Amino acid sequence: MPGVLSSQSSSPEVRPATRPVSVRPDRARSASRAEFAKHPDAACAEITASLTAPRAWLSPKFFYDGLGSRLFDTITALPEYYPTRVEAEILATHQHDIARRIGERPVMIDLGAGNCQKAARLFPALRPAQYVPVDISVEYLRDTLEGLQRQFPEIAMQAVGADLSTPFDFPSTVGRDNRLFFYPGSSIGNFTPIEALALLQRMRAASARGDGVLIGVDLLKSVETLEDAYDDPLGVTSAFNLNILRHVNRLAGADFEVGDWQHIALFNAAHNRIEMHLQARRDVTVTWSGGTRRFLHGERIHTESSYKYRDEDFALLLEQAGFDDICVWHDRQDAFAVFHARG
Ligand SMILES: C[S@@+](CC[C@H](N)C(=O)[O-])C[C@H]1O[C@@H](n2cnc3c(N)ncnc32)[C@H](O)[C@@H]1O
Repeated sequence: MPGVLSSQSSSPEVRPATRPVSVRPDRARSASRAEFAKHPDAACAEITASLTAPRAWLSPKFFYDGLGSRLFDTITALPEYYPTRVEAEILATHQHDIARRIGERPVMIDLGAGNCQKAARLFPALRPAQYVPVDISVEYLRDTLEGLQRQFPEIAMQAVGADLSTPFDFPSTVGRDNRLFFYPGSSIGNFTPIEALALLQRMRAASARGDGVLIGVDLLKSVETLEDAYDDPLGVTSAFNLNILRHVNRLAGADFEVGDWQHIALFNAAHNRIEMHLQARRDVTVTWSGGTRRFLHGERIHTESSYKYRDEDFALLLEQAGFDDICVWHDRQDAFAVFHARG
């Protein structure tokens, strides 16, 4: 059925169509840890399962508490982190072509919206009828949206707090005509290709014939450029990676000591992906409300994969998900691609 990204319900804030968003700070805070607080046992069970796996891992979605979202924004300002810069170049250069392909007054659904800035820069060209940012870091999203709604009072805005890695419904107030799923930042690379296909299929199922997706995809390039982007000399990416431990401490009552762990970023050529890990600096025993584990000196927790694609491989995923009429734009260095495709 068009309109359903999948089947789990969420309880999003409904935003007035043409008035500034009016979430009081105290209300925003109480709703903040929303996506995890709504299902604390599920978050704890997920953390237990991944920390007790033979090779321990944590889902990258746990990076994004309020501090994690701010640290990610800081990463995007680093000279080594090219994706944000080059994607912005592509969107700015081709915004009018993109707008022509998308057509009049889309309902722009921004997945993993973060600070919403990439969508906002497209507003003048796309003139969306409705803007629906979706993010797991709900408090940060709501703070951002308040300012954005004041800047663009003519656009109806509605924040949706949801976990993209699990099925969820859109509220009925999200328009069904000319939906555009905007998924920038190469966030789709955080999913394995099989998971990415499933997410694209959910977008297709939530679209009507002719609706579109606009997706930023990071391309394969030199190992040095890739590893530098995920291991900056100022240590911002390291702080972002380590902050996951503090978030897990709060979510699962764990006793991780940040100082016991070291940030590692490496390119895994067998899987075409950058991996981030946290490596134990000494033997450590960690306890949380669902379990305990002893990590030996040098043992790692895998915290993120970021898959890098060739154009043809990502186009194939789009086709397999049921999209066609695929168009792709690159930056001048062919570092990054933005795809548009229709359902
Ligand atoms: C890499 S940042 C990209 C932010 C922004 N779209 C950009 O391109 O700069 C990933 C964003 O997705 C959100 N996110 C990560 N995992 C998520 C999940 N499972 N469900 C929903 N949002 C998620 C994060 O909170 C963050 O805002």
